[in-house]
Amino acid sequence: MALTVPQDTTAPAAPAALEAIGRVTSVSGAEANVTLTQRDSRPDDSEQATVGKFVGILSGRAVIIGLVSEINDMPSQAVEGERTHRSVARLALIGEISPSEEQSAQFKRGIENYPMIGDSAILMSERELRIVYGAADSDRAHIGDLQQNTDIGVHINIDDLVSRHFAVLGSTGVGKSSGVVIILQKILAARPNLRMFLVDPHNEFGHCFGDKAQVLSPRNVRLPFWLFNFEEIVDAFFGGRTGSDEELEILSEVIPLAKAAYLQYRSAERQYVKKRDPKNTGFTADTPVPYRIEDLIAVLDERMGKLENLSSRMIYHKLIMRIQTLRNNPRYAFMFENANLGGDIMPDVLSQLFRLPANGKPITIMQLAGFPAEVIDSVVSVLCRMAFDFGLWSDGVAPLLFVCEEAHRYAPADTKAGFGPTRRALSRIAREGRKYGVYLGLITQRPCEIDPTIISQCSTLFVMRLSNDRDQAFIRAAVSDAAENLLSFIPTLGPREVFTFGSGTAVPTRMRFPELPLAMRPRSEANSNTRSEGGATMNRDLMMSVIERWRSATANYTEKVEIETQLPAPASNAREAQSVADVNRALLRRSLQTNPPAANSPLPQTGHPRIR
Ligand SMILES: Nc1ncnc2c1ncn2[C@@H]1O[C@H](COP(=O)(O)OP(=O)(O)O)[C@@H](O)[C@H]1O
Ligand SMILES: [Mg+2]
Repeated sequence: MALTVPQDTTAPAAPAALEAIGRVTSVSGAEANVTLTQRDSRPDDSEQATVGKFVGILSGRAVIIGLVSEINDMPSQAVEGERTHRSVARLALIGEISPSEEQSAQFKRGIENYPMIGDSAILMSERELRIVYGAADSDRAHIGDLQQNTDIGVHINIDDLVSRHFAVLGSTGVGKSSGVVIILQKILAARPNLRMFLVDPHNEFGHCFGDKAQVLSPRNVRLPFWLFNFEEIVDAFFGGRTGSDEELEILSEVIPLAKAAYLQYRSAERQYVKKRDPKNTGFTADTPVPYRIEDLIAVLDERMGKLENLSSRMIYHKLIMRIQTLRNNPRYAFMFENANLGGDIMPDVLSQLFRLPANGKPITIMQLAGFPAEVIDSVVSVLCRMAFDFGLWSDGVAPLLFVCEEAHRYAPADTKAGFGPTRRALSRIAREGRKYGVYLGLITQRPCEIDPTIISQCSTLFVMRLSNDRDQAFIRAAVSDAAENLLSFIPTLGPREVFTFGSGTAVPTRMRFPELPLAMRPRSEANSNTRSEGGATMNRDLMMSVIERWRSATANYTEKVEIETQLPAPASNAREAQSVADVNRALLRRSLQTNPPAANSPLPQTGHPRIR
């Protein structure tokens, strides 16, 4: 039996023609049950209440809006002797449309008037849905279409989205990266002056933003080693492992000395000052001021020269070797090449990384795939830290959206996994970034593996299909009670479909991202598409760049040992010590010329695996 909707002309948004789909049979807290009217014929999909759709409850002058979270089949004893079944839809009540003074009805979140038993429920019409999702304007951007009715655009408030951090979650291949491209493009269109920094671990985003983006890779980025803080440079020197306590102690003493030496060079015509007190240099091992690797090695060498004990000398010797090997490795050129020839290049580095000024390219895409694997963690740490520190020390004059793909790798929940400094740097942006105009966008396929204190700061979540139970449980725990039972359809979301909730959207919404044109889709430089056009379009430049990467990854280490020629003779009161240093240097030179990196060296073993 079809029910007729009360013909109340003052009702704001319920057209008389809409047929009720059922009636409210129970209300509790922020939920209501609607017993659906049985139909003789099977209704079209568009006329059915299904999970994820919006239902309006006509209650007095307001239309209360609920999202279907569950449909249950309830046995009932309606007709004597005959068991029948009724479908009951459970609704999460999320807001209401009420008539406003100026005729146009308005949507607001939260419920003021609770529905009554017997109120009729309708599937929401386009008109009401449009009231809920608003229209694109200077603050709101169209990021997708409603799943329930693809004619309705979903508009998202850009400021709420960006300034309160967001995350895109979903299993591999469901469309996260493509969704991020859409979101970032919309943000870019609405806020052309906001700069963005995208950490791209698989080199997939290079072409997605056209000439709006600067693409950085180890080939064109400069991240001088002296910008690394102590933990980061140790991580780089020791190839992702940590050194012994003695080694760390030595480094923590000599790095400030090298910094002081550099300062003195600059101010006093390259005068090499011998006696320095590490406590009085004014610099810590963390201060981002330039120093020279030559000075670092000279200080180490000088100290080594004074030692009697052979095993202590070996520690210094190994440390010097380690630093020299790294510095001469062409794959580490981004850290060491010309790192301080031009003096203090920190302003240039920051301008390059964070687009200051933007010069028409407000986005930086930081491609990580070409970096030596051992140093990626510390590189990401340096980048996160600098993004935050620049915001902090500049008082947020130039807002930046820092977007991190594969965030679970850099901010893992397990404190023993990953690299502590990166997690801390991301966590700082998450907790305090907003104060300094540094905003976070995280992307991950393993939300349960990401540090919960970081992801909990993301106020807008875009959840795509997630099949893992723990990940689903995590999302459930992260959302408010009202939205919690809306998550049941997360494992069944289709391609491009996304469930969005939080501060950026008016209501928790099941929507679909638009189709991204082929040319803008993220793709890895080496993907598994067997129909790749790569072979046909491979030109000589591309071929040369392939060969360059290939060769530099497997290059032999050049023996550019310049320290002796550049430095004055080490301070030496003991001839004996001097000669030990000479012997060590000779040893070092020989080993650089002849040996491949030792098994425990920090260098990547990029050649063919050795067959034993
Ligand atoms: N919005 C979209 N428009 C067009 N194709 C898409 C879209 N989202 C996903 N795809 C398709 O799905 C594939 C995987 O999407 P991707 O964004 O790389 O997923 P993820 O980052 O979650 O692994 C893409 O290569 C593309 O073919
Ligand atoms: Mg991806």
